[in-house]
Amino acid sequence: MNQAHYVAELLFDGPIAEEYNLLHRIAPEIPDMSRRVGEFVGAWAAPAAGNLELLELGTGTGVTTAYLLHHRPEARITSLDNGPAMLEQAGRHLAGAVAQGRLRLVESDALSYLAQWPTASLDLVASAYTVHNFLQGYRGRVFEEIHRVLKPGGVFVNGDRYALDDSLQHLRRTQDEVRGYFREFLAMDRPDLLEQWVVHLFSDESQDHIMRLEPALARMAEAGFQPVTCHYREGVNALVSGVKPWP
Ligand SMILES: C[S@@+](CC[C@H](N)C(=O)[O-])C[C@H]1O[C@@H](n2cnc3c(N)ncnc32)[C@H](O)[C@@H]1O
Repeated sequence: MNQAHYVAELLFDGPIAEEYNLLHRIAPEIPDMSRRVGEFVGAWAAPAAGNLELLELGTGTGVTTAYLLHHRPEARITSLDNGPAMLEQAGRHLAGAVAQGRLRLVESDALSYLAQWPTASLDLVASAYTVHNFLQGYRGRVFEEIHRVLKPGGVFVNGDRYALDDSLQHLRRTQDEVRGYFREFLAMDRPDLLEQWVVHLFSDESQDHIMRLEPALARMAEAGFQPVTCHYREGVNALVSGVKPWP
């Protein structure tokens, strides 16, 4: 991999960002995964007592963040995103939590921000539908940095798009997905969004980005997570966690 695979990209800008939540009408499994991430975090037994320090990668419009706030009222949550148009919406939706000091929203890309955190300083890192957007090299480094910043016993939970390991099955599924985009966005009379989501899907599906489940679990294990567990999988949607073991 060359250096170009270790950079952050700005993928959510313009109409795709401003009307991101329209995607939920077409793919209700996406907000459903946000709920699963929130429930996982709510049920997680922290190894040590005291306030939790939690980081979310990829705030988006704040859907998953709202579940995190709901399930962990005692946590201090920092949530980052490198898309100003997405973060602006989250700021509006979650203004109450920001005002109460429960939530800090940060405009940054994931890797640059993680690199600033001290080693073993976070209890939990959560994310939804963000990590699959990363370039392969960048994603691997993000896994390594998450592992570094977590306290021993801390957990990384990711609800995301994990491509099927059977590439032909995955192709068929993606073709159905594209047909769905045409059907739904044209019915909404939104050819602009159709174009943007199809272009976005090309990015997700490219060899430079595609996040297949088994290689992603292996890359997390290589970064030091043990165990790495897939808790749920339905089509391309999976909930995965990795624990930073005690030394
Ligand atoms: C598909 S949205 C998901 C948003 C949210 N997590 C949710 O569950 O609704 C992905 C988000 O990740 C952000 N993102 C993508 N690459 C990023 C990076 N390298 N660093 C930080 N944020 C990133 C995008 O700007 C976008 O808001």
